[in-house]
Amino acid sequence: MECTNSSTVVDYSKIREILQKYNYEKSFLIAILQEVQALYRYLPEEAMTYIGENVEGLSPATVYGVATFYAQFSLEPKGKYEIKVCDGTACHVRGSSPVLSAIKDTLHLEKGKFTTKDGLFSLEIVSCLGACGLAPAIVINGQVHPKMTPQAVTTIIETLMKEERA
Ligand code: FES
Repeated sequence: MECTNSSTVVDYSKIREILQKYNYEKSFLIAILQEVQALYRYLPEEAMTYIGENVEGLSPATVYGVATFYAQFSLEPKGKYEIKVCDGTACHVRGSSPVLSAIKDTLHLEKGKFTTKDGLFSLEIVSCLGACGLAPAIVINGQVHPKMTPQAVTTIIETLMKEERA
């Protein structure tokens, strides 16, 4: 049986394959969730429920609890462009807050949402990107953009938006 929400069709046979690989062992829950996230770029609710109902010693609530505890897991679909904004100490003192505000304004993100409605952009705030000498830094799909300013980041995002419309 397959289940659909607004953006994702969960293929339960793929989830079963992952569970089989880890022998339905609850001690491998983190690895299982990592693989499911690699498949969908986030953790669909249906997948978490399925895992909770089919692995002995787990429940949907415990799976959901683990998924929300670890920052590496996303419960929302990620965008085609994953933007990570550093708000670690070095970036913060060099102006990451106005950069973050500029990103939110440019993306028109709804309150409490981290992915744009069209699914193109998602935003994540991280505590250090390991590029403190380049502060304030952001990363888009793995590429570091150093010494960001509100204007510079707005230009980058608007350029991507234009490319998508082209
Ligand atoms: S604090 Fe921002 S990269 Fe380290």
